[in-house]
Amino acid sequence: MTSATASTDMKPVLEVKGLEGGYGSVQILNSIDLRVNQGEFVTIIGPNGCGKSTFLKTLFGLATHYRGTVVHNDTDVSGWRTDRLVARGIAYVPQVDNVFPSLTVRENMQMGGIRLSPGKLTDGIGRACWTFPDLEPRISDLAASLSGGERQMLAISRALISNPSFLLLDEPTAALSPKYQQQIMGCIDSLRSQGMTVLLVEQNARLSLARSDRGYIFSDGKVVHTGSADSILDDPDIGTYFLGSQE
Ligand SMILES: Nc1ncnc2c1ncn2[C@@H]1O[C@H](COP(=O)(O)OP(=O)(O)O)[C@@H](O)[C@H]1O
Ligand SMILES: [Mg+2]
Repeated sequence: MTSATASTDMKPVLEVKGLEGGYGSVQILNSIDLRVNQGEFVTIIGPNGCGKSTFLKTLFGLATHYRGTVVHNDTDVSGWRTDRLVARGIAYVPQVDNVFPSLTVRENMQMGGIRLSPGKLTDGIGRACWTFPDLEPRISDLAASLSGGERQMLAISRALISNPSFLLLDEPTAALSPKYQQQIMGCIDSLRSQGMTVLLVEQNARLSLARSDRGYIFSDGKVVHTGSADSILDDPDIGTYFLGSQE
């Protein structure tokens, strides 16, 4: 079953209506409507600077929310602080500066669960190492010594420590080799098979849409198109402009 057909009758995890956000007095987002259903993998694509990262930051309480509603699992969380969103099971992996290079892999993971009890923290670190087995032998190494791909795994691991049910990911495969891109996407697949709902912003549009249920195209702070991932991939007009070269 593709979720394109299922999306109309599935339960929404996130429902955004008329969202306007930005930084202080600089408005970037204009009336964004977007929905993610339980268990879906939804990808946002769009040109550089069009507001994709700002959208995730506004959802997660890291940019200014002006207007519009954000409903998470039937609760209006518009403008909520980040820590309250984390407590609801939402996690976010930023595009840049997403690990502490001068801390070890374990310490980075511990930072992701700073408010958890020792037992829950140990469970979370175990879960992260299970999801990213490459990190386990590096657990005592400094994050600075990791490859780009391993750093990205660590960044996602940190987000997993709090055992979220809804993951916001900002360009997790940017600047990675094809091998690591596939590995990161494979891990996201595995998280989904465990029930995780995923909203992803991605430059590698084809790589991400190929395993997504639905997609949204942003341009200049607005949603300019939405549809099933397959329909976006198959649309020749969208392909030329938004998806980059065919691999
Ligand atoms: N902290 C900030 N303060 C002011 N403007 C910002 C800030 N961060 C990003 N911007 C601006 O917001 C716009 C959207 O940026 P961004 O959301 O990062 O785009 P994308 O992720 O789609 O590449 C850009 O014009 C960018 O320069
Ligand atoms: Mg961005």
